[in-house]
Amino acid sequence: MTGTELIEKYLNFFKARGHKIIPSASLIPENDPTVLFTTAGMHPLVPYLLGEKHPAGLRLTDVQKCIRTGDIDEVGDDWHLTFFEMLGNWSLGDYFKDEAIKMSFKFLTQELNISTNDIAVSCFIGEVEHKIPKDDQSAEIWKSLGIAEKRIAFLDREDNWWGPAGQTGPCGPDTEMFYWTGPKPAPENFDPKNKYWVEIWNDVFMQYNKNAEGKYEPLRQTNVDTGMGVERTVAILNGLKNVYETNLFLPITKKIKSLALAEDEKSVRIIADHLRSAVFILGDPKGIAPSNVDQGYVLRRLIRRAIRHGKMIGIHQQFTAAIAEIVIDNYSTIYPELNDNRHFVLEQLTNEEAKFNETVELGLKQFDKISGNKISGRDAFILFTTYGFPLEMTKELAAERNLTVDEKSFDEEFLKHQELSRVGAEQRFAGGLADHSAETTRLHTATHLTLAALRQVLGDHVFQKGSNITKERLRLDFSHPDKMTPEQIKQVEDLVNEQIAKKIPVTWEEVSLDEAKAQKAMGVFEHKYTDQVKVYTIGDFSKEICGGPHVSNTAELVHYKITKEEASSAGVRRLKAVLG
Ligand code: ALA
Repeated sequence: MTGTELIEKYLNFFKARGHKIIPSASLIPENDPTVLFTTAGMHPLVPYLLGEKHPAGLRLTDVQKCIRTGDIDEVGDDWHLTFFEMLGNWSLGDYFKDEAIKMSFKFLTQELNISTNDIAVSCFIGEVEHKIPKDDQSAEIWKSLGIAEKRIAFLDREDNWWGPAGQTGPCGPDTEMFYWTGPKPAPENFDPKNKYWVEIWNDVFMQYNKNAEGKYEPLRQTNVDTGMGVERTVAILNGLKNVYETNLFLPITKKIKSLALAEDEKSVRIIADHLRSAVFILGDPKGIAPSNVDQGYVLRRLIRRAIRHGKMIGIHQQFTAAIAEIVIDNYSTIYPELNDNRHFVLEQLTNEEAKFNETVELGLKQFDKISGNKISGRDAFILFTTYGFPLEMTKELAAERNLTVDEKSFDEEFLKHQELSRVGAEQRFAGGLADHSAETTRLHTATHLTLAALRQVLGDHVFQKGSNITKERLRLDFSHPDKMTPEQIKQVEDLVNEQIAKKIPVTWEEVSLDEAKAQKAMGVFEHKYTDQVKVYTIGDFSKEICGGPHVSNTAELVHYKITKEEASSAGVRRLKAVLG
């Protein structure tokens, strides 16, 4: 059975039982700042579980796009995914335990033809502290359907309670259904710790509201919220041992393997999972792009981790867009928004990959240079800002080498940097330069430092031949006949970083062009200058004719790194550099 067949069967089954089919909501929750992503089908339905009237009625069913990154470290095993599709049926104060469990059982055994012998269930054990009783009622219903007592486990909140999706809201005990994936026959006793029992469906009895004081108050109505993972269920129905062998993943993993030079199943799985998630986030109508905050940061982490694993298995060309095309083609029938946003998805992935590729190798080298068995917050911060390594990636690299990361001091560095940017922004505003972005301004100042450092290291024949600044990097073309040696590159970096460490104020004055020349200010003298020019001075290190804007103090540049040095044209070299 394919994913699409399962989805159709499920929706039609519940439609025939009075449920209205509703479309999947966005992956980005509406009006809920407490969570970044839609993590379950019930999430967009919270107001209706609380008692508001749903326009489609009291019985609903759908397949919902979900992102859960809580278990991201488990991805690569047989079952965990960061993106998955969840089938669900809801009763908004209509049917409750009896009808819900009976419909679940019927769907499993009659529509999916699963044998009762391969099913086990769990129910809530009860909680004295919150006055929530043991769920004997559900257990009795299961028994009446033919589930043996030994196949029913009573478990606590960890396993048999669901919600709320954020800090407060509807929640309740649940009963979960497990399928035996091991050698047949399945054991008589249900041991929830046995890995061959795989959870496939969850019926939640939403009858409480967790309030801001952490108390559970009864809801006005008793609801049912259920969730069945499409990928898992397709895998077990086809007798497969993991989700990656299903038709939902095979075309993706096949493509990844065709690009890879080395075989490593775990990396292939991580790439497939993470890029599939990235496509769904990017393809969502909300238009989330990679960034350093909120959903954009999660997206960036997913993409960059996939790229790193790509490198680990020998994929050296850009590959994320090629994988994305397959995901889009596979899923557009059910989620047409992916095709509608195809251009945005591919463009964002390509840009993010190019950006990360510029720094990743250098970042890995930098990582290997770090000595000791604890990565300092400062080092982790430099890896983050200069090389684009999300903290989680640094932690992962550290764990691979039995190192730890000082996360507390990373947070401190982060705050310090935010403070610095804020101060910088205020100063720029005071200087009337508020319309220039902070990143560009910092790189502009770094360009001056680079030119001065190049002249110190290589000689007075070095002049600026061209400059181009994007938000991410500076690019400087300069006259010099030879390729720079690694030592020269290092010397230039060290010189610039020294000026940053010295926290030198950046000042300017307006003088006549003759005066500027007399001061030996650097300038691109092929340019036509007006009679009066602005000269920017950075201590006694750099003096340049320039229109600005610049930062007020070199400390705002944080850390400087050359990412590339190459030929530009005859006698002209080109380098690129980034800042922390
Ligand atoms: N909301 C329940 C879950 O996600 C159904 O498992």
